[in-house]
Amino acid sequence: MTDINVPDGVSNKELVRWVTEMVELCKPDNVYWCDGSQEEYDRLCEEMVEAGTFIRLNPEKRPNSFLARSHPSDVARVEDRTYICSIAKADAGPTNNWMAPKEMKATLTPKFDGSMKGRTMYVIPFCMGPIGSPISMFGVQLSDSPYVAVNMRIMTRMGDQAVEALGNGDFVHCLHSVGMPLEAGQEDVTWPCSPDPKNKYIVHFPEERLIWSYGSGYGGNALLGKKCLALRIASTVGRDEGWLAEHMLIVGVKSPDGRKDYVCAAFPSACGKTNFAMLIPPKPFQEEGWEVTTVGDDIAWIKPDENGRLHAINPEAGFFGVAPGTNYETNPNAMDSIKGNAIFTNVALTDDGDVWWEGMGPAPEHAIDWHGNDWTPASDKPAAHPNARFTAPITQCPVVDENFDNPKGVPVSAFVFGGRRNSVVPLIQQSFNWAFGVYMAATMGSEMTAAAFGNIGEVRRDPFAMLPFAGYHMGDYFGHWLDFGRNIPEPPRIFSVNWFRKGEDGKFLWPGFGENMRVLKWIVERARGKSKGYETPLGWMPRYEDMDWRGLENFTREDFEKAMHLDRDLWLKEIAMHDDLFFKLYDRLPKEMTFIRELLLSNLWRSPEMGLATPRPDEQEVVMAQAQAE
Ligand code: GTP
Ligand code: SPV
Ligand code: MN
Repeated sequence: MTDINVPDGVSNKELVRWVTEMVELCKPDNVYWCDGSQEEYDRLCEEMVEAGTFIRLNPEKRPNSFLARSHPSDVARVEDRTYICSIAKADAGPTNNWMAPKEMKATLTPKFDGSMKGRTMYVIPFCMGPIGSPISMFGVQLSDSPYVAVNMRIMTRMGDQAVEALGNGDFVHCLHSVGMPLEAGQEDVTWPCSPDPKNKYIVHFPEERLIWSYGSGYGGNALLGKKCLALRIASTVGRDEGWLAEHMLIVGVKSPDGRKDYVCAAFPSACGKTNFAMLIPPKPFQEEGWEVTTVGDDIAWIKPDENGRLHAINPEAGFFGVAPGTNYETNPNAMDSIKGNAIFTNVALTDDGDVWWEGMGPAPEHAIDWHGNDWTPASDKPAAHPNARFTAPITQCPVVDENFDNPKGVPVSAFVFGGRRNSVVPLIQQSFNWAFGVYMAATMGSEMTAAAFGNIGEVRRDPFAMLPFAGYHMGDYFGHWLDFGRNIPEPPRIFSVNWFRKGEDGKFLWPGFGENMRVLKWIVERARGKSKGYETPLGWMPRYEDMDWRGLENFTREDFEKAMHLDRDLWLKEIAMHDDLFFKLYDRLPKEMTFIRELLLSNLWRSPEMGLATPRPDEQEVVMAQAQAE
């Protein structure tokens, strides 16, 4: 049998036992333990250049950076092949695929049997979160993909540092194979995977804290620390232990008086988390001293400290961000983060050895597209895949927060939830309290079809932006959020935002992500008990004069009122539609959801004026209680 080559520093008996067992099953030619060093990273990258998996980019333009092109079948997460294999089907709930653990293991064991023949098994020990943080968790991924190994080095605290901190402790077992063994003499391909979509499996066994991923080498399917561990497994651990694992960015917001607040914000995939996490305040804000810093762009783990104050960490150490649309105007901090030491997957290669994608800037006259074919601007296909991504260390971000690596995490002042709604949902509102906030987050969603103005299109509900990531029954997940809020002395305020509302002309009402600081400022000051708002049937909202419009000339009071307008009839329809989700989750839906729905309905009926065009009398203005202000 293959020697498993346990390095001297490894004392974890379970790790050695498990690697031995998995080597017997997967039958790799070699076993290699990653130490996480730069030397190792450089060597693995060079080996991939020789194998054709990586193309080294022009060192003058993009030092120490590489391009990978995936197989065309392997370009994104595969939600329909993702399973939560809890012992009871009911624990996975109706929004997850499920198979009995025994049955799934019986299906997958023969696939893993010999799946690494002709390849090296990389043993990848990693820590999700700062080393030494009480919120962090360990994992070890066994993978036959060197691409995964080098990406994991950027995305996690990987190698010797993790092994040492882990000691003999518990870790999440993450088994991964691209599912393409090499028989003797068989030539490898540049992106091995299982091309048949039905032969890809992303599988979680929450009771065992075990992940098995087969057939894909891409992103969230293969970098198992990310969605599989840090969201699906961690959400179940959080449910059991009383904390939260969320699809949220974390930003620090510093005001001119030097006070800093941290905000966690949930948006569905490809809805601008990376952008919001690296937001650059408009000029007048900057001049006054407002600063925004990045703790994380995709995942937050949130735990109460000994005083019950919520603290968040970013379990990741890098960005795996959407490339198309990223440029020096939309996200200069992301552009600066990927100047070097970056891995690009499925972007275009320019003739001078650099990368390009749609929305990066002027198109080159000629490039090689993500399939490896010649491309010109006349081509009818995009040069980069729409889900092309960059991998880069968070420490390269010019505005990385000073506390990003702080084991204690950062204190959380507010939660923000944002869907992608063409209509109905206003630009910004604050929920009356924690339970209303949970309701609002539970019912967030995105329009699937282009909605005709004044009609609600088909809305895909994406509760908490966690639909593909909750490792257990979504109804229980709502219940966990409700309980969690009950058990902390002063829960953060909860807000909802919608950047995507459109006007009658079909154009976005909000001038763009660059202006989001105005909303963020209202949120932060509101959480401090400072900014004004008024009560509507659904929550508190700012008036035009309650927000800071300096430097934004062509956004009028009328424009703002359109972006904020609440239409009673549409909201009655909207709330009726919430039942589709609630009935689906009925067996485990917390009663509070139904009661809050009734409260919202009665608010809508009772209030005579809905729109901002008719402000409510002054006595209705609500300034947060003094007690909340510090
Ligand atoms: P995941 O990583 O998938 O969880 O998503 P995310 O929420 O981090 O998405 P991300 O911010 O990476 O992607 C959003 C998309 O919107 C990308 O294509 C961005 O380039 C694009 N985008 C970002 N800012 C702007 C902007 O100001 N205007 C426009 N039109 N697009 C933008
Ligand atoms: C997402 O889809 O929400 C991502 C990208 O963040 S992936 O890691 O591929 O899941
Ligand atoms: Mn994500």
